[in-house]
Amino acid sequence: MERYNKKYNFAAGPAPLPESVLAKARAELDDWQGQGYSILETPFSSDRFAELMVQAKMRLRALLNLPPGYQILFLQGGASAQFSLIPLNLLPASGKAGYVDTGHWSARALQEGARYGKAHIVASSRSTGYDRIPSPHRWSLPQDLSYCHITTNETANGVQFHADPDSDDIPLVADMTSEFLSRPININQYGLIYAGTQKNLGPAGLVIVIIRETLLGRARPETPRVFNYESQIEAGNRTNTPLMFAIYLVDLMLKWLDAQGGLPAIQIHNKHQSEQVYSVIDQDDFYHCPAQPGHRSVMNLCFGLASESLRQTFLAEASERGLLNLSGHSHAGGLRASLYNAQTDAAVSALIDFMRDFRNRYG
Ligand SMILES: Cc1ncc(COP(=O)(O)O)c(C=O)c1O
Repeated sequence: MERYNKKYNFAAGPAPLPESVLAKARAELDDWQGQGYSILETPFSSDRFAELMVQAKMRLRALLNLPPGYQILFLQGGASAQFSLIPLNLLPASGKAGYVDTGHWSARALQEGARYGKAHIVASSRSTGYDRIPSPHRWSLPQDLSYCHITTNETANGVQFHADPDSDDIPLVADMTSEFLSRPININQYGLIYAGTQKNLGPAGLVIVIIRETLLGRARPETPRVFNYESQIEAGNRTNTPLMFAIYLVDLMLKWLDAQGGLPAIQIHNKHQSEQVYSVIDQDDFYHCPAQPGHRSVMNLCFGLASESLRQTFLAEASERGLLNLSGHSHAGGLRASLYNAQTDAAVSALIDFMRDFRNRYG
């Protein structure tokens, strides 16, 4: 049936990209900027690529309204590598870092960070099943912390910070991987932001690091040069061959985001989509959402059904209708619909229609 021919992808990452961006990338695989070959075949030392990187960083600066005094880096190893590279760059061997424990990804950052120094749990929502963000008023922030790490959107647990927290004078380090560029933020609150680009910006493997310059110069001597923030800045982010194709795609995505109206406009779009789905979940007890109202993620909507067999039926029928990748994270279980920046209204409408219909038939 024609209605079910269309495929809608709700993956938590890598996630759907806008058709216009894919079409442009496809076309430019034959010829990038009239040079007769693609970005994949371009020397990384060329002026052309240097210009691309400068341009992408300028677009990012403009979208984020980034004040002077911050540097941007495009690094390899994805977001997970930063769980180790942040301590190597910022934490003395005898130092202590704080972690706000809000779910699967902050726990991973903590576990890895603890290999490089002392890890202090600033606050945790583990005892309530990671259903909320612990109130910053009740955080324990000893003054000897080198930084305080947060995960602003927990991709697996579906909870999100909806305001930029205040960490007194302790530098705030934020993993924004699954919500980066989905809303305006007050960048002055943060010492360092990092984000793998496979959610709102396309390619996996690339991580964007934005660092306040006053935090540079603290790397341990054993920090690999390609992952030393200061060395990379000094080398114009070309200590080694950068992830050129990924940076090219990010540049296309930044242009696309700008054309959507930038962060204020995309925030309205994202909120509108997520509110529609949450209102179907909240209508009665058929679906339930483990995350507390006021703490729920706008990007990764986690929800459940009464039994595992009903969940399996939901996934099978959804898939038949072209609604794909709705299974929850392997650690959290349940169901999850990811609505990143490029998620279409058509996909959200199709999901809502299906969820209502499913409730009518099985509720
Ligand atoms: C919040 C968060 N942090 C870190 C990661 C790990 O990213 P990567 O696979 O790029 O290492 C993910 C991946 O989904 C994530 O959602």
